[in-house]
Order: sequence, then structure tokens, then C-alpha cells
Amino acid sequence: MYTFMVLFLSSFRTVSGLAIEKAGTVESVVTSVVASAVPLATKTSKSSGVPDYFQTTLGQFEGPTATGDAAFLAETNPAPFPSKSYIPVSPLETQVPIEGNSNDANIFQLHGELSHYFPNPDGWGVEELPLPPRSYISYLHMLHRHGARYPTLRSPAPTLAERLATANGKFDEMQPLAFLNSWTNKLGVEILVPIGKQELFDSGTLHQYMYGHLYPNNGSKIIVRSTTQNRMTESAEYFLSGFFGLQWPKNASLELIIEAPGFNNSLAGYFQCPNANKPVNQGGLNATHEYVDTYLVDAAKRFNTWSDGFEWSTRDVFAAQMLCAYETVALGFSSFCGLFSYEEWLGYEYATDLSFSGNNAFQSPTGRAVGIGWVQEFLARVKHQTINEPTAQVNFTLDSSTTTFPIDQALNLDFSHDTNIMAILVAFGFTQFATPLDPTKQIPHELVVSRITPFAARVDIEIISAPEPISSTRTRGTFQYVQGEPTQYVHFILNQRTLDLGRNFPECGSRSDGWCELNTFIKVQEKMLEASQYEYACFGEYDAVPYGTLGDGVPMGG
Ligand SMILES: *[C@@H]1O[C@H](CO)[C@@H](O)[C@H](O)[C@H]1NC(C)=O
Ligand SMILES: *[C@@H]1O[C@H](CO)[C@@H](O)[C@H](O)[C@H]1NC(C)=O
Ligand SMILES: *[C@@H]1O[C@H](CO)[C@@H](O)[C@H](O)[C@H]1NC(C)=O
Ligand SMILES: *[C@@H]1O[C@H](CO)[C@@H](O)[C@H](O)[C@H]1NC(C)=O
Ligand SMILES: *[C@@H]1O[C@H](CO)[C@@H](O)[C@H](O)[C@H]1NC(C)=O
Repeated sequence: MYTFMVLFLSSFRTVSGLAIEKAGTVESVVTSVVASAVPLATKTSKSSGVPDYFQTTLGQFEGPTATGDAAFLAETNPAPFPSKSYIPVSPLETQVPIEGNSNDANIFQLHGELSHYFPNPDGWGVEELPLPPRSYISYLHMLHRHGARYPTLRSPAPTLAERLATANGKFDEMQPLAFLNSWTNKLGVEILVPIGKQELFDSGTLHQYMYGHLYPNNGSKIIVRSTTQNRMTESAEYFLSGFFGLQWPKNASLELIIEAPGFNNSLAGYFQCPNANKPVNQGGLNATHEYVDTYLVDAAKRFNTWSDGFEWSTRDVFAAQMLCAYETVALGFSSFCGLFSYEEWLGYEYATDLSFSGNNAFQSPTGRAVGIGWVQEFLARVKHQTINEPTAQVNFTLDSSTTTFPIDQALNLDFSHDTNIMAILVAFGFTQFATPLDPTKQIPHELVVSRITPFAARVDIEIISAPEPISSTRTRGTFQYVQGEPTQYVHFILNQRTLDLGRNFPECGSRSDGWCELNTFIKVQEKMLEASQYEYACFGEYDAVPYGTLGDGVPMGG
């Protein structure tokens, strides 16, 4: 079957080639999911004949959309800082001096899921190797997170912000918290901040360079999928503007899947997984709180000696670290950032990692279940089939028709959320992120949220067609093929670095390029729906167990 596809695809490329050169949390997923579910606008579709899911201006189910105050970085940026020469902002101010930061590390890359996008500087444990001559990329399956945004409605950061905004005058004028005497909360709610738009435009541009050749789509527009939430829709639109230009509606139809409780949506899988939103799935948040009560004790003491009539708990101080991250992306600079030592920023990242690990990944009872719907869609697409029966949380109405679920598109672009992308990696079975963390002290670990799902994170899954099997021990410049049939491969790239499939899926075998034969990978993945225990994990009754008890993203004794 796949041999046939390789031949078929080669001719497809030639033809099109002639025509033109051708992608919760610490802030409690539980609250955020429920809070952001309230549809603010429920305008009904005009009788235009175009179904709702292809209309991008209805504004239904778009979630909270309060915008914040405009930034004024020219006024608020205190740079140059003592002992640093002036470095123009680009556009965020990240030169803030941090106590104990001897190597000039970037604390803005220790902000967990609130980090401005950066490619993982260290890679995922395998070397990137180039495409061998005569092989080509035939399909891309991209999963992209939305860009930098304002805080989630009613989460810890805006809750602290509300208290601080009414506490002017309660802070020692001679101490570092003095700025709070005149501080106001300038943050909006949930929608993209300026740099969040840029992240997506930049990524669209990058993807045009990387994969632009996979378009045109055999003469028709591609279907691109996002959700109805305002920031999700806009992220897709900014991406497409970067990829195609402002005339992108001529090249792509944007399909918006309803994101609200009670609806099936593989791009927001927690809504059709009730247990994911209950205390039974709060082990990560509990572990975060345990760790916050350890690493922020000194900071809370410090803050309290600088305050009179305002009491700081360790969790308040944790929320102040979040305000640093949010103000930085929204306003360009935040006075909260310099209040913490480098050690405390390492602690912040670790606290976030604990949360994702326990609420959304292998230490969560619903880790696999929440992400499994998208994995089923991936499998259907690579097998060129629609979804044939209701499966996990996919929207069967949409996925059973090629009008809304194309099965032959070379360029597949989907947009989703941080926790959902994490769950999808778990549902695939990337066990390199499965090691439980220790909630009492930092231990070495690979589940580092700022590197997996920063703002505008992206998973690029390439399907590669090779004329013969590619040597599994190849290096740069050695002979790359072994004799045999045309073979297809899958290559996973997370935030611009290759994931090692052989390490995560022993069936793939050890390969120097981290790829896996597509047929093998499909066989491995065909077992994952069962492994996720979707029904029991999402709808079953089971007891909460302490963080660290679970290790496979499913409940105990399922
Ligand atoms: C491209 O279009 C041709 C003619 O309509 C059709 O026969 C072929 O199946 C299409 N190929 C793909 C990959 O969609
Ligand atoms: C988008 O579609 C328009 C109209 O068909 C076409 O002129 C343009 O080249 C396409 N853009 C890209 C980047 O392929
Ligand atoms: C599936 O999507 C369609 C189109 O948006 C929508 O009308 C329907 O309510 C959705 N069904 C579920 C169960 O989410
Ligand atoms: C987390 O803590 C809450 C509150 O104490 C508790 O209800 C819940 O069962 C805990 N969850 C887990 C998985 O430990
Ligand atoms: C939504 O998902 C549920 C749970 O898998 C399933 O029973 C139902 O048929 C699905 N509905 C649609 C329209 O996909």
C-alpha cells in the first residue's frame, strides 16, 4: 500500500511542480478550562449558506476577550541598567539584572508555558541530519500553539493583580516593592498580546521557507483547523498571513472547531474528558503547591518585610512571578522580574514542570486520554481515511467528511493549546517525558515546559518518501541508502529540534536520524487508543492518588 503511495506521490509532485514551485497549567487547568468556557457572544449565523465552521467573523464561543491597556515601553523601560550598556529592546526588555545570574542566562526562558517562543537550544537528545538526496518530504502535519496572551480569567495572576491594584501605599518606599505604591493592572484577559501576534506571523513565515513547496494543493484551497476561541482563531490568521500573505483566504479555508464544554474537539481535548477537569486530575497542581511552599519561603519573608498591611503567602509570591511573565509579553517590561533571584526562576520553571507532569502528562490519569483524539486524526490522515466511527473526542460530524477533514492534503496545519499539545505527546507515547519529578527538590528531568510548550510552540511531523531504505547508522556524508524497496519515514520535530523516535518507541529501532519507518510507526500508534483507556480515564470513577504514583498517563487499575 505504501509503495504504491510513493509512486503515486512522485507523479503528483511532478504535476504540481510544473504549475508553480510549490500548534492549565500552573494556573490550574481546572479553573482555566471552566472559566474560559463561557461563550460571551452567541451571534447566530446569517443565512449566507456558508456553514458556521467556515466562518471566521461570527465570534461565537470565542471565550473572554477583554483587551488590556496599551503598552508604553518608551516610558516604562528603566534600561540602561547599572553596569549594562544600553541594548535596544527587541521588542521585549530582557536585560533586567537578576541576582545570582552569573552566566547571563535568560530568565525569560524559565517561564514555563508563559515563555516567549524560543527553539529548544539543546535539542532532544538526537542529532539533526539532512534529507538524503533523492528523498523528499511528501506531507507535513503541524500542530501549533497559540501565541503569547493575557492571563486566563480568574487565575492566580489576575487575582493577585486585583489585590495589588487596591494596595497602593502599603509598600516601603525605600525597598524594591516601592513600585507597587502606584502600580495598576494593565493586563487584559486571554486574547493575544502584540508579541503573540508576531510569534505566529514569524512562524508562518518560517514555515513558508521550510514547507512552502507543499502548496499548491492540487488546485484547491487547503483546510486549516483551529478553534473558536478568539486567540486560537487569530493565531491561525496571523500564521496564515505569514505563510501566504494577506490574501491567505484565497489559499486556505480556516475551519473553526467549537471550543466549549460539551463539544468534541481534539484541539481542546479536555472538554470531552470530564475527569481531566476534576480534583482527581489535580496531582500536578498539588505538587506545584508543595514545591512553591519550599522554594519561595525566603522570597515571601523578603516581600513581607517590605510591606505594611499587605500579607504575602508563598502562593502570592508565585503569582507575582507569573505577573513578571505576563507583563513582559503584554507591556514589554515588568518590575516584578528583578524581584527574584536566578535560583528562584529555576524554581519557577520546575514548579511549572511539576504541574504539567501531574495534570497533563504521564503523572496524570487523563494524560493519554486528553490527547488521543488528535493522535487518531493523525493516523487517519497518514492512512488517507476519514474517521469511520465516533472515536475519543474527535468531532465525528466534521471528521467523517473530506470537506472538513481532508485526507490527501500535503500541508496540514492545526492549532491548539499548551496542555493539549502536552497530552498529545503523551498519547503518542513520548516516554522520554515520563520520569516523575520530586515535589520537594529539583531533580534532572526532561519535561521542561518552556522547551515543550512555550507560547507559539509547534510540532512539525514530516512524512518523508525515500527511493530505498535509509541507513539507520548514517552520519553526515556517509552512504545513506541500503538496498530495498521505496520506504516512507516519519520525522518528529518539536520546537525546531528532532525528537528521537527510536528512544521512545523501541519498535522503530535505534536510528542516528531519530526517524521511524512510517509503517512501523503506524503499527505502534494503532495500539495507543486502547492504551489511553479513554472511556475509563475520562468518564470512570476512581480515586485521586498522590502525585508520582502514576507513570503512564492513565488511572491505576484501569
Ligand atoms: C489531484 O487532482 C486530480 C484531478 O482532480 C485527482 O485525480 C487527484 O486524485 C488529486 N490528487 C490529490 C493528492 O488530491
Ligand atoms: C494564493 O492563492 C493566490 C490565488 O490563487 C495565488 O495567486 C497565490 O500565488 C497563492 N499564494 C501562495 C503563497 O501560493
Ligand atoms: C461538531 O461540529 C459541528 C460543526 O461545528 C457542530 O455543529 C456540532 O455541535 C459538533 N458536535 C459536537 C458533539 O461537538
Ligand atoms: C489535590 O488536592 C486537592 C485538595 O486538597 C484534593 O481534593 C485532590 O484529591 C488532590 N488531587 C490529587 C490527585 O492528589
Ligand atoms: C463526541 O464524543 C463522544 C465521546 O467519544 C461520542 O460518544 C460522540 O459520538 C461524539 N460526537 C460527535 C458528533 O463526534
